[in-house]
Amino acid sequence: MLRTIVIYWTGTGNTQILAEAITKNLKVNNIDITIKNVGELHQDFFNTDYDIYILGCPAMGIEALEEDEFRPFFEKLKPHLNNKPLALFGSYAWGWGEWMKKWIEECLNVGAILMTEALIVKSTPSAHDLKCCEDFCKNIERMLVTYA
Ligand SMILES: Cc1cc2nc3c(=O)[nH]c(=O)nc-3n(C[C@H](O)[C@H](O)[C@H](O)COP(=O)(O)O)c2cc1C
Repeated sequence: MLRTIVIYWTGTGNTQILAEAITKNLKVNNIDITIKNVGELHQDFFNTDYDIYILGCPAMGIEALEEDEFRPFFEKLKPHLNNKPLALFGSYAWGWGEWMKKWIEECLNVGAILMTEALIVKSTPSAHDLKCCEDFCKNIERMLVTYA
């Protein structure tokens, strides 16, 4: 079974809601999935190669990834992302999703394969946003069939 990991950072819980909804949706279809807050990862995390990465981080700074925990983690992860299926998600509040555009660009530059359009949600996810979460998961599942 393909080993999938959801890793997220959250300040006020919005991105965590998305991370948990994504995990729940994918679990239903028997995907081997682990969810971790980036702060829970141990030093040996990078010794394990996952098949699929699903990463979540809200817009922080000025349209940037959170810089104290998530950015350092992401920098270390980058060399592992070449040719890896990946999906991105996160919450924002007042911008236009610029942070996600930049993040997508960075991922493509290191050779990651984006499995679906990024899921970006304004502030706390609404019922409609959670429905979009289901669609995000369906897109991932469709792609996984080609990797199984
Ligand atoms: C320090 C800080 C910087 C932020 N910068 C941005 C930003 O550049 N653009 C934006 O749209 N939202 C920005 N936000 C809003 C957060 O992205 C938004 O509140 C989001 O829902 C937080 O997600 P979380 O609950 O997972 O932490 C910022 C929030 C904080 C606290």
